[in-house]
Amino acid sequence: MTTPAGRPARRDALLLSVRGLKVYFPVRNGSLGSASNSLRAVDDLNFDIAAGETLALVGESGCGKSTTGNAILGLVDRTAGRILLDGREIGGRSREARRPLCRDVQIIFQDPFSALDPRRPVGESVGEALFLQDGLRGAALSRRVGSLLEQVGLPASGAARYPDEFSGGQRQRLVIARALALEPLLIVCDEPTSALDVSIRSQILNLLSDLQERLGLAYLFISHDLLTVRHVADRIAVMYLGHIVEEGPLEQVFEASRHPYTQALLSAIPLPDPKQQRQRRAPPLPGDPPSSIAPPAGCPFVTRCPDAEPQCRRTPPPLTRRADGRKLACFVR
Ligand SMILES: Nc1ncnc2c1ncn2[C@@H]1O[C@H](COP(=O)(O)OP(=O)(O)O)[C@@H](O)[C@H]1O
Ligand SMILES: [Mg+2]
Repeated sequence: MTTPAGRPARRDALLLSVRGLKVYFPVRNGSLGSASNSLRAVDDLNFDIAAGETLALVGESGCGKSTTGNAILGLVDRTAGRILLDGREIGGRSREARRPLCRDVQIIFQDPFSALDPRRPVGESVGEALFLQDGLRGAALSRRVGSLLEQVGLPASGAARYPDEFSGGQRQRLVIARALALEPLLIVCDEPTSALDVSIRSQILNLLSDLQERLGLAYLFISHDLLTVRHVADRIAVMYLGHIVEEGPLEQVFEASRHPYTQALLSAIPLPDPKQQRQRRAPPLPGDPPSSIAPPAGCPFVTRCPDAEPQCRRTPPPLTRRADGRKLACFVR
């Protein structure tokens, strides 16, 4: 793929920076929780993604992963924070400020069944942005749509068919083709394989990896499932109650995690060897996360943490870089 002028040509160059991102949703029932009456879905998030890299965002359901992705796409309003793509703020009110959102950043959602209009041939859905944004028509549009389908492993002739003629995995390929149409720099993949049969998940993950290799795409890969993430991530950021609690390279997080929440998530993955499984030391995580409407005053994890000290109940630990390169939000570890 050509690299138009002004795009980060080099892989590993900083592509996306998220700084101090907060997304609070108003809560209607005033009697609930804290005086602020808001649900803190995302609370002061900071992370970077390099060109061509996959950052996985993991954590239990409700911890704010999708809200983070949606905020990057401008699909939910930010309460605070900056989101820079290639050094420029994205998602302002003006048409010009929103332009990168239509082109350079795309999103793939979990459900490939609701993502395609059942009344239109899939080629129209895949090529819609090329038609609307680039003014492609006729044979030029058909050619481009055909080559997009081939890029995701489908025949170009499939363009004339309707969504219900495709399997779930094929539909997710179509959704990916549509996301590729405008040659984005970053794709937010929000649980892209969670709705698919286990047997075809790895095919979709392999496709995403191949496309990344070929096109230099960066991914923000959102998943509640660490095993899925293990196949695709370069780095992992672990979220809990709207915060990142640990972030580091894939191997470091899997082999030498330090945050008690990360360790609890890892210990919930069943081991293939039953003997190893029985000898496991870390117990599974007790209880549920607290409400994002009335989060704990100190560390978000304090109510479930085996190591909590008095300080942890008073002050939220900042996410700081440690000597081994990882980032950790914990006073004790
Ligand atoms: N549009 C919304 N209005 C109000 N609350 C929301 C909205 N979207 C998400 N939430 C809440 O924000 C929190 C984070 O949700 P979400 O980002 O979907 O988590 P995840 O993707 O990690 O499961 C949850 O408590 C959820 O109920
Ligand atoms: Mg989600």
